[in-house]
Amino acid sequence: MMKTNYFENLINEIDLNSPPPENEPQRQAWYLARAAHLVTARKKEAGRDLTFRVETFGCQMNARDSEKIIGILERAGFSEAASEDADFLVYNTCTVRDNADQRVFGRLGRAGHLKRNRPGMKIAVCGCMVQEKTNVEKIQKSYRFVDLIFGTHNLYRFAEYLCNTLESEGMQIEIWDRADRIVEALPAARKYSFKSGTNITFGCNNFCSYCIVPYVRGRERSRAPQDILRECEQLAADGVVEIMLLGQNVNSYGKDLETPCSFAQLLEEVCRIEGLKRIRFMTPHPKDLSDDVIRVVRDNAKIARHIHLPLQSGSDRILKRMNRHYTKDQYIALAQKIRAQIPDVSITTDIIVGFPGENDVDIDDTIDVVRTVGFDNAFTFIYSKRAGTPAAKMPDQVPEADKSRMFDRVLQAVQETAHGRAQHLTGRTMEALAEEVNVKDSRYITARLSNNMLVHVPGDPSMVGKMLQVRLDDCRGFYFFGTVVEK
Ligand code: 5AD
Ligand code: SF4
Repeated sequence: MMKTNYFENLINEIDLNSPPPENEPQRQAWYLARAAHLVTARKKEAGRDLTFRVETFGCQMNARDSEKIIGILERAGFSEAASEDADFLVYNTCTVRDNADQRVFGRLGRAGHLKRNRPGMKIAVCGCMVQEKTNVEKIQKSYRFVDLIFGTHNLYRFAEYLCNTLESEGMQIEIWDRADRIVEALPAARKYSFKSGTNITFGCNNFCSYCIVPYVRGRERSRAPQDILRECEQLAADGVVEIMLLGQNVNSYGKDLETPCSFAQLLEEVCRIEGLKRIRFMTPHPKDLSDDVIRVVRDNAKIARHIHLPLQSGSDRILKRMNRHYTKDQYIALAQKIRAQIPDVSITTDIIVGFPGENDVDIDDTIDVVRTVGFDNAFTFIYSKRAGTPAAKMPDQVPEADKSRMFDRVLQAVQETAHGRAQHLTGRTMEALAEEVNVKDSRYITARLSNNMLVHVPGDPSMVGKMLQVRLDDCRGFYFFGTVVEK
């Protein structure tokens, strides 16, 4: 767990006999100190450890939020359970596509059964899904065993909610429509000791017509550069070598700050931090990726040779209806500029298939972009209707059978370019960060190249967290088998 010393000091200075302070983060420090007391007492009473489990759905943003939740639970004295059969169970949800919602409800139903056999078990649901009223109503009606529901804007108050949940029965619900502030200095756990995500902006102002995110994550807010840099320095001092800067659209970073700071400037500053070996960012919008950012990536070897540039569609007609603010030709020109400026860069993308009104002619355009740019990889999604978004009201929704036929066409094109791009690296020796013991075969270590591709190498757990020189021997489609070579 990353110790933010400032926050630790706050906790140590807390007097639990005085009322909780109004100021943040002092208030959360007070509640966390109280939660820690409660947990200690309950462990003693039960004669065993108390456990927690956080189940995360969705994107990197949610993964980072879960680390914040885990940081609080660990500091309160819970230890991590191997399954959902735990004393404090949290579902951090996603609502970007309908199947994510359905999965959560399925899991929640099973958690209710677990709770019957585990007296005192608490179940919390948070994240994007509960920012939608209908989902909260459904939980209130059909999942009455849930103890706590809290939204994305008030996550910083989790210590307070945790404490209240431990001390009371019944369902506690706290959802806000918007964020009131960004609270710094709260503790966060890390899934990996050697890499971490860092938020640079929260929320989104783009309102792509299919997307629910602006409604559930609110307007764009940037963290102050000094707060981001301080966190990155602290992470580096803790042994982190790779940092991912996170925002719904990183290009708009800093525009809302009193002293504006561009994303390119921020990137350059982060590159200066000693100890960091690799810097990633996610996600830049194609409409406003600046030449400055491309130049900073080109000139800083620490920045990963990978740009994830969501295309969504290659058809001008559909792009317009999606409210994306670029054309097919503009996208291709941008991708080609990136490839020309940054040798060995990989460009990956997101594509939505089956947007209202989309037909095979539009898909021809999308496939044309896939082939012209030569994506190194792509996440292809079937369009999912999200209530409250403009696209949900468009009359010409596409029948499922057509969606699935068009999806297969796009997927095949993507696989062809991705295989080709990976294949041409065979035989090269590249730097790779060893991330974990291979899940299928423990004699192998899985490492990640700067371009985000994975390579499995024979090795042992002591290599995890180290930067290796790896020869890419054998291409298996999207990934490699390789061998570690001496520098
Ligand atoms: N349906 C399908 N895919 C979607 N995405 C966002 N909203 C939807 C939707 N309604 C995809 C986009 C985005 C990625 C995170 O999820 O491709 O880039
Ligand atoms: Fe992330 Fe979007 Fe899902 Fe929210 S809705 S968790 S922002 S992918």
